[in-house]
Amino acid sequence: MNLDTLKQKISVLKSKANDDFLSSVSKEDLDDSYRSFLGKKGEVNLLLKTLGSLPQEKRKEAGKILNELKSELEEKYLSTSVSLSSSANQERLNKEKIDSTLPGFQDLKGSTHPVTQTIKEICEFFERMGFDVESGPEAEIDYYNFEALNVPDDHPAKDMHDTFYLNNSGLLRTHTSPVQIRTMEKREAPHRIICPGKVYRKDSDLTHTPMFHQIEGLVVEEGASFSQLKGLLNDFLEDFFGEKVELRFRPSYFPFTEPSAEADIRWNKNWLEVLGCGMVHPNVLKGVGVDTKKYSGFAFGLGVERMAMLKYDIPDLRAFFENDLRFLRQF
Ligand code: PHE
Repeated sequence: MNLDTLKQKISVLKSKANDDFLSSVSKEDLDDSYRSFLGKKGEVNLLLKTLGSLPQEKRKEAGKILNELKSELEEKYLSTSVSLSSSANQERLNKEKIDSTLPGFQDLKGSTHPVTQTIKEICEFFERMGFDVESGPEAEIDYYNFEALNVPDDHPAKDMHDTFYLNNSGLLRTHTSPVQIRTMEKREAPHRIICPGKVYRKDSDLTHTPMFHQIEGLVVEEGASFSQLKGLLNDFLEDFFGEKVELRFRPSYFPFTEPSAEADIRWNKNWLEVLGCGMVHPNVLKGVGVDTKKYSGFAFGLGVERMAMLKYDIPDLRAFFENDLRFLRQF
């Protein structure tokens, strides 16, 4: 080989390398090209190895040209590398560009349903008074829903029009009172329990839904009396409404209490019924083996939605079950 051929080769190599570097689309691509030209086994080194075939006096000049090529290509590599990485950055910046005019993401948090909230508030009051929270099944049998509660077979509540009967001769509980019986069967007196839960009746209008929530309270203790019941309910209602309430007890009838009463509170000049209550009927206590010479009991039951409607001034009961977020968000 002579010097002219070498010079030709060098100029071809130079433009090839320049083209390769410039057309690299990524850093990896560029590094590949670098290796094929400037690496250990790259084309520049291959040329260097051919120097020996040149006549002695040309070798020095040839070496110089090759070294110049080397540093020129190194420089080209570096500058290409810098511009590649800055355009990669640019691309990333473009991708990550934030449009501050877009609406933000809302951190949507759920909240407790007003019925659940009311149940919690009521139970908390009674827990402070030493009551345990108990629960029982919503699908009941006649015995717990009626018979053990001293409800005679011809009682109107048992009517097909009020009670949802199931195919297997079971029924959907019409009140939470069956939980009293289940608890008294399970444990020895004395008792202080509060039982929140869903109940079902065939009823549907502005103030009635086929499913609603009740809370039943039961106290069975030595010397439990009607005056204790009145005092407890008075304290509870004042705690719940957060102000003094005017309370009135009206004689009433429930098969499982004797005497029985309904309690009304004064609400905007009217009397509004808020709960049923009474002294537990001895038949009920005897039925679950409570010694009625030693113990007496009182019980009360209230509608949760009714209480929440009064407290939060909600005119339509159905609002609780329509799940309209504009309504629910207010709680
Ligand atoms: N269980 C009755 C009802 O659903 C309410 C009640 C409970 C009355 C306890 C008296 C004592 O109407």
